[in-house]
Amino acid sequence: MKKRVLVVTGGGDCPGLNAVIRGIVKRANQTTDWEVIGGIEAYNGLLREPMEYMLLDGKAVSGIHVKGGTIIGTTNKGSPMDFPTQLPDGTWTTMDRTDELIQKFKELNIEAVISIGGDGSQKISHTLQKRGVKIVGVPKTIDNDLSATDFTFGFQTAVQIATEAFDKLVTTAASHHRVMILEVMGRDAGWIALHTAIAGGAEVCLIPEIPYDINKIVTKVNSRYNNGKGFVNIVVAEGAKPQGGSVIAKNSGEVGYKHQRLGGFAYRLSAELKEAGCKADIRETVLGHIQRGGTPTAFDRVLALQFGVKAFEMILSGEFGCMVTYKNNTISTVTLKDAISNYNFVNTDSYILQAARGLGISFGD
Ligand code: F6P
Repeated sequence: MKKRVLVVTGGGDCPGLNAVIRGIVKRANQTTDWEVIGGIEAYNGLLREPMEYMLLDGKAVSGIHVKGGTIIGTTNKGSPMDFPTQLPDGTWTTMDRTDELIQKFKELNIEAVISIGGDGSQKISHTLQKRGVKIVGVPKTIDNDLSATDFTFGFQTAVQIATEAFDKLVTTAASHHRVMILEVMGRDAGWIALHTAIAGGAEVCLIPEIPYDINKIVTKVNSRYNNGKGFVNIVVAEGAKPQGGSVIAKNSGEVGYKHQRLGGFAYRLSAELKEAGCKADIRETVLGHIQRGGTPTAFDRVLALQFGVKAFEMILSGEFGCMVTYKNNTISTVTLKDAISNYNFVNTDSYILQAARGLGISFGD
């Protein structure tokens, strides 16, 4: 009987997840003694009766590196350690189902696990590792907010989509002498906004790492107008906030969803600009999940496929409790403990920020 490796994708979907899966399966198929199975919706499928999983053979992964999303589904609601469970009276509580999950691994003859996911998923991986599970992590997020890796796959694709949206908004800004605000994702990190602002040629970029002063933005906007003629393109991260203020966030109300939902900051900025004396017409675009969908860029495919091959090779060499990374143009590894310990904020002393300022981009500070 072949040894089995379980692959799961957790957290929000991200362009390149399928490419990682393909990389794992292609490499595993070069061995004679391993087969790959995919857990449906992270570990949730294995915790259902009957268990939900699928064989990931050559046929299942044929051509999937081009497709967005994940063929095995994903979830960002709960974890095996904090599993949403409904009580007979209809209210919800959470249960630790880790023991049950480990038992299912045994029943399915799973020797090792590859978990593709962001911060939250790798925290789950770390807990499973401490419980004796042979596990390898693969970092995923469009936000690029994991400091253990220079880039996560999905980020470049998100920036590409956001830049294409930005380019389209420039034509309206110029034709109508408007201020156009484009809001992009990123949670607490401003990477997508910063890269889009540079690539597109924005006048203003607001990121969570640099709280803004609305008067500075109005000064910048006004400097671009003469007798009502001129235009301004602004890129904002969903997590941007004013000096001394907080982000726009709400609870989703969805069972098991622990994150705050961000989004809608563009409308607040628009109102604040008007209130602070901005005379130009303003329009807002919230890009939302469009930047997380569709086919990954070639860069993200190459990165994700390498991550997949490396993750399986880490299983072969017994490098468990580690996550694959991309550092200094090299595919390498880091311990799960180190992987989850540092958030990747935009460093305000970094050269990319200096270059953005050198291009005349205002950060509202
Ligand atoms: O972490 C990735 C991300 O796309 C964030 O940029 C965004 O805030 C969040 O996920 C949205 O999550 P959901 O798909 O659950 O609304």
